[in-house]
Amino acid sequence: MQIESFFPIHIMTVNQPTDMLAKSKSIAETYIEAKKWKQKRHFGQTITSYHSDTTINYAGHFDPTLAEFINFSARDYMDYIGFDPDSDLRIESWLNLNLPDTHHGKHEHFGCFISGVLWLVAPEKSGNFTIFDPITARAQNNVHWAYARMPHNQYNRNIHSIVPAEGKMIMFPGWLQHQVEANESDDARISVAFNIWMTKNGNN
Ligand SMILES: [Fe+2]
Repeated sequence: MQIESFFPIHIMTVNQPTDMLAKSKSIAETYIEAKKWKQKRHFGQTITSYHSDTTINYAGHFDPTLAEFINFSARDYMDYIGFDPDSDLRIESWLNLNLPDTHHGKHEHFGCFISGVLWLVAPEKSGNFTIFDPITARAQNNVHWAYARMPHNQYNRNIHSIVPAEGKMIMFPGWLQHQVEANESDDARISVAFNIWMTKNGNN
């Protein structure tokens, strides 16, 4: 007997080198301090982070080494999933500060080719990154058979949680729905998120 799996969802994990992580963390903390983000009001317990101006490329402007790391990692990812790694790319990135109790509800980054996040500060229980089975018909159908479901494996689960860690970066298809669970720690979580588009002849 053999079982084949088709249409896999490709999530890449790569770790930032330790010395680069220390620099990125310091740059982010300086940015947050300068903007006084920790003193600003946050919107109850349902809305997420203060983020930097998304019309600019945070990493490109403030942390070029990180921008280069994202750029090269994206090309490795593209090569793996069967797209030309020498394509022209446009990368947008922003900084997130998630104070205790905040979370970010289910959403996707519609229209971009690759999305990702790199955690710079990730205390324990500061909010897992949960992805959802995009085949909604399967997820709905599985509700009927939940009583017979054995321990989760790659075939019978509808959600999967990724635990953040300092220096860990993930990349995933922009259409993949995800959420960031509540920060249940006593400290802030800091991350850099990004969207990547392919541009044809320099146009969007
Ligand atoms: Fe997101």
